[in-house]
Amino acid sequence: MDVILGTQWGDEGKGKVVDYVASTYDVVVRVQGGHNAGHTIHIGNKKHVLHILPSGVVSENTVNIIGNGTVVSVPSFISEMALLHNDGINTQGRLFVSSRAHLVMSYHSVLDNMNEFLKGDAKIGTTGKGIGPAYADKIAREGIRVDDLLNIEVLEHKLKRRVQAVNQQVESFLRNNDTSQMDNPPKPIDYSEVLNEALGYGEVLSPYIADTEYMVNESVSQGESILVEGAQGALLDIDFGTYPFVTSSSCMIGGVFSGSGVSPFHLTNVIGITKAYTTRVGEGPHPTEIKDAELSAYLTEVGNEYGATTGRRRRVGWLDIVALKYTYMINGITHIALTKIDVLNDLDTVKICVEYKLKDGTIVSKLPSHKDQLEGAEPIYKEFPGWKTDITNATSFDDFPQELKNYLNFISSELGVPYFMLSIGADRSQSILMEELR
Ligand code: GDP
Ligand code: IMO
Ligand code: MG
Repeated sequence: MDVILGTQWGDEGKGKVVDYVASTYDVVVRVQGGHNAGHTIHIGNKKHVLHILPSGVVSENTVNIIGNGTVVSVPSFISEMALLHNDGINTQGRLFVSSRAHLVMSYHSVLDNMNEFLKGDAKIGTTGKGIGPAYADKIAREGIRVDDLLNIEVLEHKLKRRVQAVNQQVESFLRNNDTSQMDNPPKPIDYSEVLNEALGYGEVLSPYIADTEYMVNESVSQGESILVEGAQGALLDIDFGTYPFVTSSSCMIGGVFSGSGVSPFHLTNVIGITKAYTTRVGEGPHPTEIKDAELSAYLTEVGNEYGATTGRRRRVGWLDIVALKYTYMINGITHIALTKIDVLNDLDTVKICVEYKLKDGTIVSKLPSHKDQLEGAEPIYKEFPGWKTDITNATSFDDFPQELKNYLNFISSELGVPYFMLSIGADRSQSILMEELR
């Protein structure tokens, strides 16, 4: 089993890299997150954006699994499937959803938006998809699981309790807040509508439901290869990310095992996807964020840095080696896939943050745990002369100008692991393989 993980704040290019290698694996698995993810794949003039489906679905020889650690939005599942079918991609017999995965219900996004409103200036800037409330229900043992959809009595019982509790929250919210400024003020939930919603989900999902932990382990015993597609990124991880400005799942290596049911003993390579600069969507600390409006706008446009799920502008910054050393360490990353190198092609100078100066003047090379420390951290940069060359058609590392080789060598030597691939454009073909993993 090989694993692909985001090492920054998401949107590193996981979809592209998973697609690039998917056809060399038998099974591709999503293990956490939900339709807050947006994974983009470009093949020729065709673009696919996947939210809950694994990026391996585009490669027709792979089996794809939505694992037990995910939270599944059935409307998102339906619309992504419809788009794939329009593109002539057949998923029959090769897409499965874990019986143990939890469902994102329509009331979860209502709760998500209420929570954000109540936080005011301290809001997280979530995707609004209901991911936090769906995971909160899971941990509080109030969640609706995929296997509940197969039993109407269980569904009725669980939903009745849940709708009652949600309505208490909605009513208290409406009593205590002026919602005139709210885009989409919440309304009390109708139990029978929610029940019908769930029954509809059951009809759609039932052909795909499986005890996927058995499937993946049988694949492993038969010598088949598994690729795990991480969602979000290590700095959004619930434990190791920039809490509380994080998502609600484990997007680091630990989540791979609890989210799939595969033992760590089957692990081979952990590929860290790193963008050649840094972006983050939503609120929270971002020490290397570029303050110069012109340069920031330039990178946003050249890198097309708008969220694949919400369309929000991503906050761009320089590469942050302090944060990366941390995420490479906690994930045991064995290989780097560096993406979007081409976005930096025309810059005179490219910077990498190598240390932080904290508010009290101390210089550190370790990531501070508290957001307040990180918010006040001033990056200390090493500057590199730009390569000022269009490298989007390069076919090997040897084609690169020396300035780019220096930049790349510095990153890999700081992170202490070799490159697996270099991505020099959004298209599947714009990829340079540095080391065969399989
Ligand atoms: P993910 O969430 O990690 O899968 O990443 P997203 O799909 O949200 O965002 C990455 C964006 O960068 C997408 O629009 C990709 O098509 C694009 N992309 C990926 N790799 C490259 C690359 O090497 N160069 C350029 N210019 N774009 C890339
Ligand atoms: P992919 O898989 C970038 C961010 C949100 C917000 C925080 C919490 O495409 O890399 P949530 O809706 O999860 O409760 O929001 O996490 N976020 C992402 N940012 N890429 C993603 O996924 C993200 N998924 C969540 O913007 O800051
Ligand atoms: Mg994304």
